[in-house]
Amino acid sequence: MKTTIAKVGQFVDQTVTIGAWIANKRSSGKIAFLQLRDGTGFIQGVVVKAEVGEEIFAKAKAITQESSLYVTGIVREDERAPSGYELTVTDVELIHEAVDYPITPKEHGTEFLMDHRHLWIRSKRQHAVMKIRNEIIRSTYEFFNENGFVKVDPPILTGSAPEGTSELFATKYFDEDAYLSQSGQLYMEAAAMALGRVFSFGPTFRAEKSKTRRHLIEFWMIEPEMAFVEFEENLEVQEQYVSYLAQSVLKNCQIELKTLGRDLEKLEKIQAPFARITYDDAVTFLHKEGFDDIEWGDDFGSPHETAIANHYDKPVFITHYPTSLKPFYMQPDPNRPEVVLCADLIAPEGYGEIIGGSERIHDMELLEQRLDEHKLDLNAYEWYLQLRKYGSVPHSGFGLGLERTVAWLSGVEHVRETIPFPRLLNRLYP
Ligand code: 4AD
Ligand code: MG
Repeated sequence: MKTTIAKVGQFVDQTVTIGAWIANKRSSGKIAFLQLRDGTGFIQGVVVKAEVGEEIFAKAKAITQESSLYVTGIVREDERAPSGYELTVTDVELIHEAVDYPITPKEHGTEFLMDHRHLWIRSKRQHAVMKIRNEIIRSTYEFFNENGFVKVDPPILTGSAPEGTSELFATKYFDEDAYLSQSGQLYMEAAAMALGRVFSFGPTFRAEKSKTRRHLIEFWMIEPEMAFVEFEENLEVQEQYVSYLAQSVLKNCQIELKTLGRDLEKLEKIQAPFARITYDDAVTFLHKEGFDDIEWGDDFGSPHETAIANHYDKPVFITHYPTSLKPFYMQPDPNRPEVVLCADLIAPEGYGEIIGGSERIHDMELLEQRLDEHKLDLNAYEWYLQLRKYGSVPHSGFGLGLERTVAWLSGVEHVRETIPFPRLLNRLYP
């Protein structure tokens, strides 16, 4: 019976054939242990010379790392195995021999691994991170579909710059200037006026000269937008959504979390509600913690975010940032226009901001005034202004960075391991 590693549990004590690669191998004169992988998972194949005979044993023993083969064997239950099963090999059929695979089981430097990213993704750890990424994507669709949101796809080539003009990738659109999307938000606002509750999921681009463990040049963002939703309800959707992601990963990625050595207790605690702290209180808190470098009006850097996050064992919302720090579209607090009705959600354990969101300005005049203050071209935003001309309503939304969320839930240090082919400062290969 032909099957996959993920499905061997259905064939205990039966003979199966699996198309696989050799992830690793150990052998002595009498027994060989083949670490097999087939994309669906990892399993150990045991080849005993006394059982398979000279010829098959010699073939198995000679197979090199990352060679491909069809392996036939009997599925055994084995409590010690991470997957719970082992394969007693009865036959091997080499498909293709890999010679001198560069990523050996020894330690390699980061740059070497990044240069071999196309091969590195085969490793057990990278496989686990990709599976967790997939589970976050899967449960994102599930969460928003179950909560009445419609998936809408904003364009990637755009003529506008929602998050400020300094980090744009410019390109030519025939004779016009165009940019790669930094955020689909403005289009999602239009979509919310048509469909009520919407979400997008797509690539976004920031020409940020930041070389940190949290920054990618190309990253994927989930951007929900909701008509008739104000500041507080927006935060409630976020805490429900993020809790759903954490609990889905816990439930459906047990093997992967184990492979990565993730502390499960930390993830079990990720349940709504999350704490809220205002920017004002965060500044006071930072002063008490000895951060003399921060004054009211300054943006927080990652040491500040981490100091705040370390006080909580769940993500924490920092709300009501100074208006001057945030993009033009955020709704000022009516009682205190020097701050906006926004929140950043900061993940625990030093993973930093995973969500930025706010209530949006729905008053036409105020929006025009803010565009002016940001020296943005009113003509380019004519369509966006029209949303405030025809049946304008309070509305709110947010953007969750997929890779930072994957890093946090997987417990990996750097976002470069959370996307198949990371685009980083100075890295476009492979
Ligand atoms: O806070 P940001 O810039 O917010 C927006 O773009 C809003 N328009 C979203 C919205 O309200 N619809 O980005 C949102 C999130 C951040 O919290 C972070 O998780 C992620 O996107 N992010 C990045 N992730 C990796 N690399 C980068 N360079 C990132 N920049 C932002
Ligand atoms: Mg932000």
